[in-house]
Amino acid sequence: MDIVLSGIRPTGKLHLGNYFGAMKNFIKMQEENTCFFFIADYHSLTTHPTPEDLHGSVKHVLAEYLACGLDPEKSTIYIQSDVPEIPELYLLLNMNAYMGELERCTSFKDMIRKQPDNVNAGLLTYPTLMAADILIHRSHKVPVGKDQEQHLEMTRTFANRFNRIYNVNYFPEPVAYNFGEELVKIPGLDGTGKMGKSEDNGVFLADDVDTIRKKVMRAVTDSGPTEPNQPKPDAIQNLFTLMKAVSTPDTYSFFDEKYNTCQIRYGDLKKQLAEDIIKITSPIRENIEGILEDNEYLRKVAKMGAEKARESATMTIRDVRRIIGFRQF
Ligand code: TRP
Repeated sequence: MDIVLSGIRPTGKLHLGNYFGAMKNFIKMQEENTCFFFIADYHSLTTHPTPEDLHGSVKHVLAEYLACGLDPEKSTIYIQSDVPEIPELYLLLNMNAYMGELERCTSFKDMIRKQPDNVNAGLLTYPTLMAADILIHRSHKVPVGKDQEQHLEMTRTFANRFNRIYNVNYFPEPVAYNFGEELVKIPGLDGTGKMGKSEDNGVFLADDVDTIRKKVMRAVTDSGPTEPNQPKPDAIQNLFTLMKAVSTPDTYSFFDEKYNTCQIRYGDLKKQLAEDIIKITSPIRENIEGILEDNEYLRKVAKMGAEKARESATMTIRDVRRIIGFRQF
């Protein structure tokens, strides 16, 4: 069985794009693989959150994961900072990570531009921490977006380098997990690219119904088609793509037909779209709210996750220490 590992930095709330792009696939994935889902709270220290923000974001992501249907019995769901074997592997991997390759990493160069007053060593070694996350369970597959592919490539470099230096075949080469055909890209509401974290572009799973209605009604449109059967401009196409994901095929065809015959009323389309989004998000939002109030449950899940994660991590660290040459007297 493949070992699949997914990590998320606890910043912001999950939106519909995360739901269709990741969560729905995770639910399926956990039936067929040995899955690890973890919250990368050490990684978020590279941008210096306040203690309240740090804890609040971790709690929120954990609640959202559980609310979406990740099952702590089937999978290992844990918080990075609960597993001390990860920073230990990070330290060891750093010894064979070279300044040049870390400095050349695109995400590091981006961060220098974004926070020039806080170019800390954690940013520079972000890829080795991520490699430690992945290699600590000797993972085979990692579901990542385009922006994380270089980090995964560096993980393979570190894994291969370790194997070569110590003349072992210990770490497998982790590859990106592709959901293929099933991957639905969810566009945002502001007429530009895909759904993101900003309030005027994203619908969050935790949004209440009024907020969702308001956001959808505000979505960017235009003055409507003037000729039949014309291709849709980006902003309009985005609404239809969203509709394809959340509404029934009949509803989609109905509005598509209206568009193609120049009878479309965007107000009607948006009203329908909002209601169909609400149908999907409402049960999840209610779950999130319930779980957020249940500290006892959250504590139990986090504890169980940490125990399971440490079981696997301890074995790896024991092997790695032996391979490197640490010996007991
Ligand atoms: N860097 C990832 C992101 O920003 C989060 C992450 C940290 C991660 N460690 C990981 C993802 C390990 C996959 C595997 O999205």
